[in-house]
Amino acid sequence: MSQPNTPTETVSIQHSARQVAIEVITNILLQQGSLSTQLARHQTSVASEHIPLLKELCFGVCRQYPKLNSIALHLLAHPFEEKDTDLYATLLLGLYQLSYMNTPDHAAVNESVEACRLLKKDWATKLMNAVLRRYQREADEIIESLESTPSVEYNQPKWLLKRFNKHWPEQFEGIVDASNTHPPMCIRVNESRVSRETYQSQLQELGIKSTAGEFSPSALYLKNAVRVGELPNFEEGFASVQDEAAQLSAHILAPKTGEKLLDACAAPGGKTGHLLEQAHPLDLTAVELEPWRMEKIESNIARLGYQANLICADAGDITSWWNGEPFDKILLDVPCSATGVIRRNPDIKINRKPADINELVEIQRDILQNVWKTLKPGGHMLYATCSLMPEENEQQIRHFLAQQDDANEVPLNSLAPELTLEWGMEVSHGRQLFPMVEAHDGFYYCLLQKTA
Ligand SMILES: C[S@@+](CC[C@H](N)C(=O)[O-])C[C@H]1O[C@@H](n2cnc3c(N)ncnc32)[C@H](O)[C@@H]1O
Repeated sequence: MSQPNTPTETVSIQHSARQVAIEVITNILLQQGSLSTQLARHQTSVASEHIPLLKELCFGVCRQYPKLNSIALHLLAHPFEEKDTDLYATLLLGLYQLSYMNTPDHAAVNESVEACRLLKKDWATKLMNAVLRRYQREADEIIESLESTPSVEYNQPKWLLKRFNKHWPEQFEGIVDASNTHPPMCIRVNESRVSRETYQSQLQELGIKSTAGEFSPSALYLKNAVRVGELPNFEEGFASVQDEAAQLSAHILAPKTGEKLLDACAAPGGKTGHLLEQAHPLDLTAVELEPWRMEKIESNIARLGYQANLICADAGDITSWWNGEPFDKILLDVPCSATGVIRRNPDIKINRKPADINELVEIQRDILQNVWKTLKPGGHMLYATCSLMPEENEQQIRHFLAQQDDANEVPLNSLAPELTLEWGMEVSHGRQLFPMVEAHDGFYYCLLQKTA
């Protein structure tokens, strides 16, 4: 039976948000899934009004992980054993609250000590108390002594900094800055329902200030983030939340009514929806590997009022899903290191390892080579990643073009001559976009055509 909310209850629910945050961060540290999957799985155990606190704690610890990790290792005489990763997560959360949140210091320390008890690790209470109290006293000196370490200075993992510096020395500072800041809220106006100008005026009338994106004709940046429910006709599909760089996919592919399209790695369906907005009806097939992500595509395109042929399969295993009818156009938004969108997926700072890049390159190669077979002669494929690693981008395409004699690279505005190509930077194959403060994410695009 539900009980009225008493002050004591409120405290215990908030406490549970911290407990759940410990579980989420522990699982991330143990490489048991991404922040988004962990949050999706665990946030149901927190009262809805405390979900923002849960998110703030989890996103915050991931965003600040390189710094917090260095501080924690500095404070501990011996690192925790793997079986005590939950204690390490508790310590990181305690340090995060002391450094970045308004939580009173004594509450942050007491909560962390109490968490040791709830984890049935009473033996660690004294240690937790001592370590956090020392940090309270000596924070400034500790931070100063660590500041010259690149991973602390730039708040990014050392291996990633090395790669950014090696591949993009001129863009290095910008990449790091943008990767450490909150992304702006960018929306995509559904141009089949309303023009960007009209929608911008409707926003203005509601007091929501926005500026038009420079590169995507459908993009509006909101001055301040709002809940999607506040956007005019959101439920009717007049707008979607989508980064400006991601919006370029559908503008580059410029689908035409009646064409047969494939969106080969489709979930959560942001680009699927945009392709359908561009031309309707469209014979669109969306393939996605993960069964649990299919629902997202479905609900996204249902809100926009469209349908598509949704298939849950490994896009690279074409015999399992393809009926042999070739596609006019293909969007291949392959799984990647997501190094262009660290600010949206800050758990990359914890989870991503150098070896992942080679593994991903192999997966992408397999999908690319196999899905290419489903493209009509004369048809176009847009290869896309949200990665900044040349191995996944221009080098991947170089390898593909060298061994595929029916493939040509064509200019990114071949299908939409009106589209500006002033975004990002031309690289040996395709264009690389870098994440920008208050602007678009990091992305990569290359347009390929199959010879007749
Ligand atoms: C970069 S995300 C796609 C984002 C999507 N295009 C959008 O704009 O919303 C890559 C997606 O590919 C899926 N995926 C990974 N391997 C796959 C495979 N072999 N076949 C099909 N989908 C795959 C992942 O589960 C993930 O949902």
